[in-house]
Amino acid sequence: MPHTSMLNHSDTSIVTIDRFIIEQEAKFPEATGELSGILYDLAVAAKMISSKVRRAGLIDILGAAGSENVQGENQQKLDIIANAIITKAMDHGGRLCAMASEEEEGIIPIPPQFKCGKYVLLFDPLDGSSNIDVNVPVGTIFSVLRRVTAGTGQGSKEDMLQPGLAQVAAGYVIYGSSTMMVYSAGHGAHGFTLDPSIGEFLLSHPNIRIPAVGKYLSVNDSYERDWSEPVKALMRRYRGLDGKRDPMNVRYVGSLVADFHRNLLGGGVFVYPANRKAPTGKLRLLYECNPLAFICEQAGGAAADGKRRLMDVAPTELHQRSPLYIGSRDDVETALRILEDDR
Ligand code: AHG
Ligand code: MN
Ligand code: MN
Repeated sequence: MPHTSMLNHSDTSIVTIDRFIIEQEAKFPEATGELSGILYDLAVAAKMISSKVRRAGLIDILGAAGSENVQGENQQKLDIIANAIITKAMDHGGRLCAMASEEEEGIIPIPPQFKCGKYVLLFDPLDGSSNIDVNVPVGTIFSVLRRVTAGTGQGSKEDMLQPGLAQVAAGYVIYGSSTMMVYSAGHGAHGFTLDPSIGEFLLSHPNIRIPAVGKYLSVNDSYERDWSEPVKALMRRYRGLDGKRDPMNVRYVGSLVADFHRNLLGGGVFVYPANRKAPTGKLRLLYECNPLAFICEQAGGAAADGKRRLMDVAPTELHQRSPLYIGSRDDVETALRILEDDR
């Protein structure tokens, strides 16, 4: 089957992420190349984080053996290192006017010596970081928005607090058995696998489509006693216990990126409901939920906060949390139907 998004490629063509980004941009005569530059720089940051993650268990050993100068890095948690890599890769390109990260309380300004651009970047530098110590896949998630404030200087919170529908691009990187970057700039979701021997992301999953009905259910059901009755009813439905559907297979890694990625490719739903102790759930709307919702919808799936389409939510806080129901379209619709009783 030819790649429908890229008729100038065949299934066996070797296409780097850089060339793909440039070719996509060429389809839009009004594009200035700035967004392409952001995506390109993010791919570079992803490669650097990947190389750190791949050595995660070794930093202490190599440091202790004196075989390399670790410059204190053995003291740093990998999510701080990933945060610094993205900041340093993105702050001087002249395309961003501000950034925000799950790891930092306030906005990350563009240093005064660099030019400001018309976009803002929000990111979760290392998702699932508690899994690092046990060698389980982790990820990076990012979201790009166009500034809404006037002027050409520093951006502000107002530029960040936009509903997910305003995203111009979003993506994630999964550091799994291989490293993959999946992104969308609003024209389908496309996946690239890192060939570590040449240091290039190569197009491996053009035009990802998520099955309308999923086979996997990803949920941490240790919170069950704190769920509302409608949430419990929804879980009984997904598990086939109410006799209205075949049971789904439960798969929960505990790294959102890894759980989402499996469900995106194989079909499934990831849910992190609100519960009595966490009335707005755990996951962050701007750094985790919105970017994955953008990708998921671009792949034909759906995302909701339990009440409405997730990307309709107007954020009020940078670090705002949201319940999340994301994945195969029919399974998310089922959630919205059953959770109606929660309102
Ligand atoms: P982070 O490492 O960026 O803080 O995110 C962890 C998140 C997410 O990756 C995962 O799905 C979720 O936490 C797991 O939470 P529970 O342990 O409550 O299930
Ligand atoms: Mn996270
Ligand atoms: Mn994180």
